[in-house]
Amino acid sequence: MGEKKSSALFNLIAPIYGLFYNYQKKRYVGTVEIVKSEMDISSFDTVIDAGCGTGALCSVLKDKGMNVTGIDPVIKMLNIAMSKPENKEIEFIQANALDGLPFKQKSFDVAIASYVAHGLVEEERKRMYAEMSRITRNYVIIHDYNNKRSILTTIVEWLEGGDYFHFIKNAEPEMKDCFSEMKNCFSEVRVINVGVRANWYICKPIK
Ligand SMILES: C[S@@+](CC[C@H](N)C(=O)[O-])C[C@H]1O[C@@H](n2cnc3c(N)ncnc32)[C@H](O)[C@@H]1O
Repeated sequence: MGEKKSSALFNLIAPIYGLFYNYQKKRYVGTVEIVKSEMDISSFDTVIDAGCGTGALCSVLKDKGMNVTGIDPVIKMLNIAMSKPENKEIEFIQANALDGLPFKQKSFDVAIASYVAHGLVEEERKRMYAEMSRITRNYVIIHDYNNKRSILTTIVEWLEGGDYFHFIKNAEPEMKDCFSEMKNCFSEVRVINVGVRANWYICKPIK
């Protein structure tokens, strides 16, 4: 899906998305617990959530004691995130991960993007991976679908018109081979299953 179409869609569905905020928070609390023995994200100080949407994951990471920045190009998603009293100490910035983010190299310990990658086309994904790698010191985490499809996800993703069907077949090799802006995106990619239909793709940024 093109950038403009994607922003229009998320501006339109932001109020509906917002209804699932508490449900999403519970799911993200569970995810962080599931992966804790292999990747304790809360052992790091600073994190940026790229494509933070309505801020559910940001909120969970804040509760874990992290210093959290959330970026998203869609103002109506951000407005919901910022309207939550518990998110007062989170810095939310309207920005697009494909345009070059307003942060210096290696500004954050960890960068995470949750359910953003599958909505981008391959070339955009690579640009986002490269940009996340640039601003991160330790790990880039891509939280997204694995290749186990459900009927509901299949229908929703078909309607959304993103790159879901291609993404789930190629996610890991695409990250391993990712080359953008004349250099590799990651030096290492590890995959942890975090639920029936989701993985954490844990990537080491290029030094
Ligand atoms: C499916 S939602 C996921 C939101 C949130 N991460 C969550 O888990 O609820 C995808 C989000 O990615 C954002 N997004 C899409 N393209 C983006 C880009 N190029 N840079 C940053 N965010 C983007 C959308 O605006 C939307 O908020």
